[in-house]
Amino acid sequence: MNQEEKIILKAKEALLKRINPFPETAMILGSGLGELADELEERAEIPFQDIPGFPVSTVEGHAGSLVSGRLEGQPVIIMKGRVHYYEGFSIEEVVRPVRILAACGVKTLVLTNAAGGINKKFGSGSLMMINDHIGLFCENPLRGANIESLGTRFPDMTRIYTRELTVHLLNAASSLNINLHTGIYAYAKGPSYETPAEIRMLKQLGADAVGMSTVPEAIAARHAGMQVAGISCITNMAAGLHSSPLTHSEVIKTAARVRGDFKQLIRTFMRELGDN
Ligand code: HPA
Repeated sequence: MNQEEKIILKAKEALLKRINPFPETAMILGSGLGELADELEERAEIPFQDIPGFPVSTVEGHAGSLVSGRLEGQPVIIMKGRVHYYEGFSIEEVVRPVRILAACGVKTLVLTNAAGGINKKFGSGSLMMINDHIGLFCENPLRGANIESLGTRFPDMTRIYTRELTVHLLNAASSLNINLHTGIYAYAKGPSYETPAEIRMLKQLGADAVGMSTVPEAIAARHAGMQVAGISCITNMAAGLHSSPLTHSEVIKTAARVRGDFKQLIRTFMRELGDN
């Protein structure tokens, strides 16, 4: 067993002592979207720093804790906040929480994030379901000795975002009359926002939105055999597509504005999951 596997196992043992049975559905809530975790029923919260080996974020809007409970009656575990590569964590540390959740028995992972809109049809404040991603600029989180207990050395990524989950999300959106766009999420390392030239390049490569998270987690989750869904909250138009400079406070402000729709979408999605 390699070092990383030992760390994952230790965290798993600690978590299973506190949360048992462990929910099979997990969510990671991105910038400004963590509020949903406060609405769980039968809620139990564990700060990240109390979980051995768990990386602890330093970013405003990313209060770090693991919250278990029920949403629309369905058991769920929510990561309120996440760590990013740009904070200085290794890519292994960035995906460690996902791998710990997988080891604890999580089968379905919903990844959410704030992102810059590249597709001009998606306005600031809209929601985009991630259909696929462009992660070539991301250090691969599976680099290094393969953790065989989680997955294979060369995992297929043809369909990272599980088709049935995308159908549930689209159904949920249409029943709520929410205009849920579908698109490709491109990863950027950050923490600086992209330049207009980089955004033009990403557009030519086929990206609809850009952000600094999600891709490593989605890869690690697929590697571990999880079903994966992704939702981007388009908090701003990407660099060069809008006249004013980008700020983190704009990102947080827009995420707060969309939060109502976002929460309704997730709640309805959870009900759909429970019915199937
Ligand atoms: N670029 C990268 N990440 C982001 C953006 C952006 O424009 N907005 C929110 N996260």
